[in-house]
Amino acid sequence: MSPAAGRIAVYPGSFDPITRGHEDLVLRSLRFADKVVVAVAVNAAKQPLFTLEERVALIREAVSHAAVEVQSFDGLLVDFARRVGATVIVRGLRAVSDFEYEFQMALMNRHLEPALETVFLVPAFDLTYLSSSLVREVARHQGDVSQLVHPAVFRALQRKFKK
Ligand code: PNS
Repeated sequence: MSPAAGRIAVYPGSFDPITRGHEDLVLRSLRFADKVVVAVAVNAAKQPLFTLEERVALIREAVSHAAVEVQSFDGLLVDFARRVGATVIVRGLRAVSDFEYEFQMALMNRHLEPALETVFLVPAFDLTYLSSSLVREVARHQGDVSQLVHPAVFRALQRKFKK
């Protein structure tokens, strides 16, 4: 990474779909990164509700910021991070239940690429228990998730689950 490029953070995930919790973490990442690359994993979920293209498009609508880029990636996260010049991986830690999996991933990523640091961010208090899977579950049964996702995501969920 050239110094002129500034610090680039990569924020990886499935984003199926992006929630207000993810949006919060992207903006928090900009407090220490000059640029955040939201990296949408191709194969993270076997049966995603939204296609890769839909997930990328929804993130672009939900987070439109000059310092935020959205890209999809296949293969190892560390290889993607190297390609985009990132030095930091950002992940959110919501509850103790996230810890084991996140710790394993962080250590494996460090094993694969020692120069890449993982940082864990704590989401906003009212978004701590929010997850894409809960949003999908509630939307599937016509529950109101309008406060939990961007309006574009809300409309996309309504289209997916309309009766
Ligand atoms: O939002 P998710 O589903 O918890 O994100 C998981 C993700 C996409 C970050 C993780 O599965 C990943 O990094 N996949 C890419 C493949 C890879 O690098 N695997 C080794 C990580 S230890």
